[in-house]
Amino acid sequence: MSTIAIMGTGLMASALGEGWTKAGHQVHIGSRSPEEVKNADLGYEPAVIGDYRTALADSDTVVLAIPFTAVAPFVEEHREALAGKTIIDISNPFDALPSNELAGAEYTAKALGTTDGLVAAFKDNFAATVNAPGAADGNRPDVKIAGDDDEAKAVVAALAADLNHRVLDCGPLHNARLIDSMVSLMLILDRTYTGFTMKTGWRFTGLTEN
Ligand SMILES: NC(=O)c1ccc[n+]([C@@H]2O[C@H](COP(=O)([O-])OP(=O)(O)OC[C@H]3O[C@@H](n4cnc5c(N)ncnc54)[C@H](OP(=O)(O)O)[C@@H]3O)[C@@H](O)[C@H]2O)c1
Repeated sequence: MSTIAIMGTGLMASALGEGWTKAGHQVHIGSRSPEEVKNADLGYEPAVIGDYRTALADSDTVVLAIPFTAVAPFVEEHREALAGKTIIDISNPFDALPSNELAGAEYTAKALGTTDGLVAAFKDNFAATVNAPGAADGNRPDVKIAGDDDEAKAVVAALAADLNHRVLDCGPLHNARLIDSMVSLMLILDRTYTGFTMKTGWRFTGLTEN
């Protein structure tokens, strides 16, 4: 069992928190307004609801479920508390990306001062698909992970598998820049073909493992 501190209380934080709680993990929710969150109906019971510092305490894994522009300041402020943990960067930079030559997650690594522990994941998984039994065609989108730390990637792969997703290892953290582009394309395709249901996603075919 992992103790997962999820930073933020938006759509992705809720979906991941619910899924991992149901899978038997201990979930800590971190918020700028923890009192409001305590009074809200989350649909599941996190083990801890607190400010970001409180939620980080005693966790082994941290999810950055906050806007990309908030990630670097957050990481710089909490660098000591993040040391030694597996850090899952799910944030999508879109137009806030300083340069397309680097992945959003590489800017997170710069703020962190290392790529140790850092994994880009869930970036192109719509929140509505995280706990869904299957999309309209019966397939679940893959979860792509990228990172330089194999041990951390194994942790994230196991956590994604606990949500019943197939996991694709996309290689080093630098490859996350390709995933960043796939997110933008996914939004275009979702709008074109479904009118923006956000229940679609990418699935890589031709593999022996289903
Ligand atoms: N929605 C999706 O389907 C999806 C899919 C994949 C990845 N992502 C990425 O996951 C991250 C979270 O997405 P989301 O859709 O869950 O976002 P969201 O609904 O907008 O929630 C973001 C959360 O971040 C926290 N936060 C911290 N600093 C903030 C700031 N300066 N401004 C605004 N909010 C701040 C807020 O929680 P508190 O107020 O409680 O602190 C807020 O609830 C984003 O980076 C997004 O690109 C989203």
